[in-house]
Amino acid sequence: KKPPSRKGSMIDVPRDLLEQIAQLEKLLTVDTAKLNEIVDHFVKELEKGLSKEGGSIPMIPTWVMNMPEGTETGKYLALDMGGTNLRVVEVELLGHRDFDVKQSKYRLPDEMKTGTADQLWDYIADCLKAFIDENHEIPEDEEEKEKKKQETIHLGFTFSYPCSQSAIHNGFLQRWTKGFDIEGVEGHDVQPMLEAALKRKDVPIKVTALINDTTGTMVASNYTDPETQMGVIFGTGCNAAYFDTIGNIPKLEGLVDLPPETPMAINCEWGAFDNEHVVLPRTAYDVQIDNDSPRPNQQAFEKMIAGLYLGEIQRLIMLDLHEQGCIFEKQSVDKLKVPYSIDASLLSQIEEDPFENLSEVESIFLERFMITTTGPERKLVRRLAELIGTRAARLSACGVAAICKKKNITRCHCGADGSVFNKYPNFQERGAQALKEIFGWTETNPKNYPIRLLPAEDGSGVGAALIAALTLKRMKEGLP
Ligand code: GLC
Repeated sequence: KKPPSRKGSMIDVPRDLLEQIAQLEKLLTVDTAKLNEIVDHFVKELEKGLSKEGGSIPMIPTWVMNMPEGTETGKYLALDMGGTNLRVVEVELLGHRDFDVKQSKYRLPDEMKTGTADQLWDYIADCLKAFIDENHEIPEDEEEKEKKKQETIHLGFTFSYPCSQSAIHNGFLQRWTKGFDIEGVEGHDVQPMLEAALKRKDVPIKVTALINDTTGTMVASNYTDPETQMGVIFGTGCNAAYFDTIGNIPKLEGLVDLPPETPMAINCEWGAFDNEHVVLPRTAYDVQIDNDSPRPNQQAFEKMIAGLYLGEIQRLIMLDLHEQGCIFEKQSVDKLKVPYSIDASLLSQIEEDPFENLSEVESIFLERFMITTTGPERKLVRRLAELIGTRAARLSACGVAAICKKKNITRCHCGADGSVFNKYPNFQERGAQALKEIFGWTETNPKNYPIRLLPAEDGSGVGAALIAALTLKRMKEGLP
């Protein structure tokens, strides 16, 4: 359901609220000139991340060194530890750019995000064990049973946090992102931790490849659409992966002995763009979110655009307007004072309210926050959601444009996934519009734009399985 055009619908909004709206528009709008300034700086920062000295964008070589051919076959297990759920997927690659999947989702309890490392690994191992017990038949014959027990199951583990990798199967967690704060993992290789937990539970699984969701998305999308050159996630967090060549990665000098044209997938971890606050149009609210987060001064870009933070930006702005006496006068805003009480899906609902009198917004405020809203207040609230969503889409387009400019890519598909990309109203159109402005395209039909973001294949499942398959093949061929 598309919201009807509300042109002229601000007629009943009193002057002072109209002025507030105009101020918010000024605060949250990123014009074309600013987009271009951000892209130019972004390109330099991507380069810096690949240099020996490094920069704030990690630009992590992932040791994924080729795209799939499309002929890969076999059954692989994939585990996805994203930001919200834990998912176990069994993928059967069918050999003609096609696949079958079987999967189970497990909730990642909120307490676990700030619990202990042992709790986390044990829980993950339990989920994997439950999946195998449920889906793998146990042979009747004793000998067969023993044989099956000895067989290793190859796992593609999607662990979507910045991890330094010295090989495809390992990953040293640089720092938690997306609100996680589990002690004893940062600085350590997560592969042996998971394998130890699996061993304790007698589960014969080996981590064959440890991957980021963006790399998985790129590879999975390229499997079904060979024009794909980038994988992008707009979900709880925001990040991208693309292919570079060894010769363009000075920080690998002396560490690998491979021809300069050898491809290497890079997990950018672009959420860290502008951690030094040079170019992004941060507001006081963005600063507050950063200061109150478990990792201040990290993920500056991500904190302005990712799903985890969008509702929080809205909440802080509304509270501030209330304190200034502009909205929700004489009402208790206690419920609205609870941090992170508006998530991105609630914000979507606010923006998408199809009714002229915004009656859905009205019930949301009444039921969730015990706040009675006036018609004009609802209009302000809805406009604010629209501004926050638009800013996020336009800023994230800068990352895509920067990678394309850096690699001189003028035409490509980007596999995109994540709750914000898939569900946030108008996000895709707004991102495409920003790309059009950045590149100055004259084409008017978004379907014909030379660089397009398209809904991806399941990167953390199919992508992880494909990368496990590619890794085993390289191992067999004696390739690095
Ligand atoms: C965060 C993580 C990154 C991941 C992204 C999307 O930015 O650090 O690894 O790709 O979220 O899930």
